[in-house]
Amino acid sequence: MLAGQKIVIIGGSSGIGLETAKLAAAEGAEIIIASRSAHKLEQARAKLGTEAKVSTYTLDITDEAQMQAFFAELDDIDHLVVTAAETSGGAFLSTATSAARQLMDNKFWGQYYAAKYAAPKLRPAGSVTLFSGIVAFKSMTGSSMLGVVNAAVTNLARTLALELAPLRVNAVSPGIIDTPSRAGMAEEARTSFYSGLAAKLPAQRVGTAADVAQGVLYLMHNSFVTGTVLHIEGGHSLI
Ligand SMILES: NC(=O)c1ccc[n+]([C@@H]2O[C@H](COP(=O)([O-])OP(=O)(O)OC[C@H]3O[C@@H](n4cnc5c(N)ncnc54)[C@H](OP(=O)(O)O)[C@@H]3O)[C@@H](O)[C@H]2O)c1
Repeated sequence: MLAGQKIVIIGGSSGIGLETAKLAAAEGAEIIIASRSAHKLEQARAKLGTEAKVSTYTLDITDEAQMQAFFAELDDIDHLVVTAAETSGGAFLSTATSAARQLMDNKFWGQYYAAKYAAPKLRPAGSVTLFSGIVAFKSMTGSSMLGVVNAAVTNLARTLALELAPLRVNAVSPGIIDTPSRAGMAEEARTSFYSGLAAKLPAQRVGTAADVAQGVLYLMHNSFVTGTVLHIEGGHSLI
């Protein structure tokens, strides 16, 4: 269904973004994946295979000038997906204000720049998918700032769905998903975190990047869905 369509995935070199690129490429879309590391982008291109129509672009989503230049160089596109983010948590009272500001710069302002500079290049029948997260909807100790950032992204998506219409704008809110985003955790700690949570979740497992990528494809496909938040979290908000 996405055959012949052009899709930009910022954050497409890893995790949910890479899995979304795989699914969209399998439908015949032309994909542009962007992130900071040229090495990671090349590894991602290799994983997507030689059949996929993929190009890569190195950029830092937190740099407004780079974001403006990236979209200025592009011809028209059909869909924008923004999974790029580096997030962190920590107790409110002991987290440096600078770290909280950095989180906002990375996950909120990055998506703001992406939506702003992509909008003139997006075809009216296309879509924008931004990324929020469970902590905007379920309060969790140590996630005060990440919750604020995700809530801000959600609100931006909903309002842009009005302002940029007929272009569709949605947000995805993942729960805990097993992606390279937790590669910095010791393996034992990560496995025990995942199995402990899986035992409590109605879905009885943590999510995979493919679970979320299928949701992103749905948002690109369905021309009657806009201004919504798609929760893909295994029932996490219920526990
Ligand atoms: N995984 C979870 O449990 C979970 C839960 C809730 C929400 N989410 C959200 O889901 C989205 C995707 O997460 P993921 O788990 O797929 O993460 P991931 O595997 O770590 O992938 C993140 C991607 O973003 C890129 N990136 C990071 N900072 C960037 C920057 N400043 N500029 C450009 N690219 C940047 C990374 O590549 P480079 O290093 O090459 O830049 C990478 O391609 C994020 O918004 C995340 O907050 C994830």
